[in-house]
Amino acid sequence: MAVERRPHLGDATRGRILYGGDYNPEQWPEETWPEDVRLMRAAGVNSVTVGVFSWARLEPRPGERDFGWLDRLMDLMHDNGIGVVLATPTSSPPPWMGHLHPDTLPVTEDGRTEYWGGRQHFSHSSATYRRYAAAISEDLAARYGGHPALTMWHINNEYCTYDWSDEAAARFRTWLRQRYGSLDALNSAWGTAFWSQGYGDWAEIHTPRHAHYMKNPSQVLDFKRFTSDMLLECYLAERDIVRRATPNTPVTSNFMPLWVGQDAWRWAEEEDVVSVDLYPDPRDPLGAQQGALVQDMTRSQARGPWMLMEQAAGPVNWRGVNHPKPRGLNRLWSLQAVARGADAVCYFQWRQSRQGAEKFHSGMVSHAGEEGRTYQEVKQLGAELAAISAQVTGRHTGHDIAVLHDWHAWWAGAQDGRLSHEVDYPDVLKAWHRALWEAHLTTDFAHPEHDLTAYKVVVVPQLYALTDAAIDNLLGYVRQGGTLVSGFLTGVADEDDRVHPGGMDARLRDLFGIRTLHEWWPLDAGEYAECDDFRGTLWSEEIDKSEDATTEASYKGGELDGLPAVLRRGRAWYLSTLPEPGALRELLAGIATGAGVRPVLDGLPDQVEAVRRGDLLFLLHHGREPVTVRVPGTHHDLLTGTAVTNQLTLERYGVAVLRP
Ligand code: GLA
Repeated sequence: MAVERRPHLGDATRGRILYGGDYNPEQWPEETWPEDVRLMRAAGVNSVTVGVFSWARLEPRPGERDFGWLDRLMDLMHDNGIGVVLATPTSSPPPWMGHLHPDTLPVTEDGRTEYWGGRQHFSHSSATYRRYAAAISEDLAARYGGHPALTMWHINNEYCTYDWSDEAAARFRTWLRQRYGSLDALNSAWGTAFWSQGYGDWAEIHTPRHAHYMKNPSQVLDFKRFTSDMLLECYLAERDIVRRATPNTPVTSNFMPLWVGQDAWRWAEEEDVVSVDLYPDPRDPLGAQQGALVQDMTRSQARGPWMLMEQAAGPVNWRGVNHPKPRGLNRLWSLQAVARGADAVCYFQWRQSRQGAEKFHSGMVSHAGEEGRTYQEVKQLGAELAAISAQVTGRHTGHDIAVLHDWHAWWAGAQDGRLSHEVDYPDVLKAWHRALWEAHLTTDFAHPEHDLTAYKVVVVPQLYALTDAAIDNLLGYVRQGGTLVSGFLTGVADEDDRVHPGGMDARLRDLFGIRTLHEWWPLDAGEYAECDDFRGTLWSEEIDKSEDATTEASYKGGELDGLPAVLRRGRAWYLSTLPEPGALRELLAGIATGAGVRPVLDGLPDQVEAVRRGDLLFLLHHGREPVTVRVPGTHHDLLTGTAVTNQLTLERYGVAVLRP
C-alpha cells in the first residue's frame, strides 16, 4: 500500500536552519525594500514570513484583489535567495468586513461585540468570515503556489479567539449533537440535575454566557473543547485549500506557548510543521527554563524538528514593563531552541515598526538601524547558524523522561468551583519541568494516551480528568516496568468531569497504594505543610495508605501529622503536596537515578544547561560569570572550530556545540 508522504520542515530548510522572521513590507515605502534585502543578506536571513496581516492590502474592497506589490516582493525575495513562508491573512479581517457583515465579529461572554481596530476580530463560527477567508486563501494559493520563493504556508496567526455569539451557539449545538447524540446523554454528561438545568430542547442550549453565579462546569469544559475544534475547522479549511494547490509544500500555523485555548496535541497532528512563538521575559530568572519547557513541548508535538516562528530580538511591548535583551541573550536563547530541536529560528519581526500598536516591540532591525546592537547581534547569529546548519538540521533526539500534559485535563480542572484557586495548572506543570530541568534531565512531553513505553520515567504533574484509555495506558506502563510519578489532583474526574467515588479513580488509588483519600487540605498562599525534610506547598491530603505501599515522606505536625506526603507502591509514586523547588528537584532526580536515567553530564554547574541533539552536545551558560565545564574526552566545538579536551570555559551567556 502506498504511504502518503507528507511534506515536512526539511522540505523548507533543505539542510539550512531557517533564519529570518515576519516581514511586513506593506508598512514601508517600496523604496526601503532593497535596503531590507541588503541587510537581510548581510545577516544570513534566508526566510521571511509575509502577509500575516495583509488582508486589507490584498483585498481593499470586497472581492477585489491587489496582488501587484506581493508579486514584486515575492520576485525580489526569490532573486535574493530568500524563501517566503506565505501567510493567509485571515487573522485580521479588513474593516469593510465587520462594517458590511457584523456577523463576522465575535461576541464576548457578556454580549459585547469585538470590533475592528485591533486584530483577531473574527468569529470562528461565522459562515461569512469563513467564506471570505476561503476565497482569499484560494486566490493566494492559485497565484503563488507555483512561485519559486514559496517554501511554506502559514495559516492565520496564533489562533486564539473565543466567541459566544448566536452563530457560535448554533454551531455549539451541532457540535454537542455530534458528541452526545441525544439530550439524555448530554443531560447526564453535564449533570444537569444539579440546579435545575435539565435541557428539554436543543434550542435551549447556549454558549456559556454571563450568568448570575458559577456556571455548569461540564458545559464550560465542552465550550473549551468546541472552541479549539472550531478554530481547528478554520485552520483545516484553509490548509486544505493551499494543500490542494501545492501538495508538496508544508503547512503550519503558529502556536502560542502553553496557550489554553487550543488542544495543541490534536492540532499538531494536522500540521506538516509544528511552529511556536516564544517570548520569555529577559528579566525572569526562570526565563531559560520557561523557554526550555515550550521547546520540549513543541519538539514532542512535532515528533521531530520544529520551527521557532517568532521570538523577540529585543523587548516586547505587551508586558507591564518591557526589558531589552542584554548582549548575548538573543544568541543564547536562539541556540537553546536549536539544541532542543528547532530547525528554524525566526523573529517577530524583521524591521521594527514606526507606527501602530507594536512600534515599541523590537525587530531584527531596531529603530537604531544597521548600527544598532540588536541588528549587529542578529547578524553575528546568522553567520553562526549558517556555520552549524549542516550538522544540525533534521536531527531528532528523544529523551528518557516524559512529562504528561493534556489540555482537556487542564480545562476540566480550571473551574470556578474548585477547592483552591491557588492551584494553577500551568504553574504546577512549570514547577515539575523546572525540577527536572534544574536536575539537568532533559524531558519530552507526552499526551496521557500516547505510547509511553520508550520512557524510563513518566511524570504526571497534574491530570485532574483522565479518560479510561489514559488510565489503562498508565497502568500498562507501570506493569511493563515503567516508573510513574504523579502529583495530586490526578485522576479525580472522568472526561465529563464526574468525580470518581473515592475522590480518585479506584485503579489509580490502587496503583499508588492509597487505601482511603479522606480529605483534600489545600494550602493558602505562603502556607506550608511541614514534611520530614522539606516543605510542601499548595496542597496536602489526608490519606490512609494500603499495606503494601511505602511512605517515603510524611507530614509533620498539624492535622496530617504522620500521614504520607509522598507515597510509593512499587514503581508508582504519588505526591500529595508540591514540595518546594529544591526538594522536588532532589526527589525527582533520585527517582530518575533509580530508574537508570542520568543527567546529560555529571558535575554541571547550576547555570549551565546541557542538551543532546543527535551526536551533538550543546552547552548553554545562562549566567553572567565565566564557568568551567568538565566534558570528558576530546570534542570539536562547531561554533569556534577548535578542539576541546576534557574541559572548557564558557563566558557570559556562552554556548558550545560539541561534536565527538
Ligand atoms: C505574537 C504575534 C505577532 C506579534 C508578537 C509580538 O507572537 O504573532 O504578530 O504581535 O506576538 O510579541
